[in-house]
Amino acid sequence: MRGFADELKDIRFWDSGIEKLIEEQGLPAIDFVMQTREEIIALCEWIDENRIKSYLEIGIWTGGLVNLLHRCFKFQRTAACDIGAARLFSLEINLAPGILFYEGNSHSPIYPNWRRKLGQIDLTLIDASHSYEDVKRDFAINRKFPHRYIAFQGIVANKYTGDGVKQFWTELEGEKFEIVRPHTEIGSSEPTMGIGIWRAANKSQS
Ligand SMILES: C[S@@+](CC[C@H](N)C(=O)[O-])C[C@H]1O[C@@H](n2cnc3c(N)ncnc32)[C@H](O)[C@@H]1O
Repeated sequence: MRGFADELKDIRFWDSGIEKLIEEQGLPAIDFVMQTREEIIALCEWIDENRIKSYLEIGIWTGGLVNLLHRCFKFQRTAACDIGAARLFSLEINLAPGILFYEGNSHSPIYPNWRRKLGQIDLTLIDASHSYEDVKRDFAINRKFPHRYIAFQGIVANKYTGDGVKQFWTELEGEKFEIVRPHTEIGSSEPTMGIGIWRAANKSQS
């Protein structure tokens, strides 16, 4: 097993400094990965074990997570979609060479054409709008295209994004695997995010 904790040690995740700024002023103009470090280490282990060869992230903020996964796994195909909210915070979106990017709305009529051209995507992570309706819509759109797994960030309700993803995840039928870890970097023994990984119970459902 690779030592992902060591491989990710140079990456800034959502830590206590970020949490303090968010509580005081809302999202800060700081480049960080909007995830719990321990959950991304566990996601890396899952990706490794499941031999994921292609990855799409919907909702990338500045691109920190998609870049680190691209770096760790050298996917045959890496793609990203975002409407560019980070720019409203004067932050740049910087994607590593080779990552295919659709800068636009994942619910737009253009998105399915872009997604179709990607072909098979082993793992799609939905991490855009966390409202129940929006997550449901992203799932409905993306499940139509060739995939192995679809994952959801935010299956644990929190004070910032609410419980829309949790509700959707609870209702979702199929094979489900959860990565939920305490958010230790903000000093909490409780999880605040959680990642749910789904695949259809049988191929005819996907
Ligand atoms: C929680 S952040 C993503 C965090 C990122 N995955 C990470 O790990 O750092 C949510 C992002 O979703 C984007 N977003 C929200 N709604 C969207 C939509 N309908 N289509 C595309 N991007 C969207 C926002 O611009 C924002 O950058």
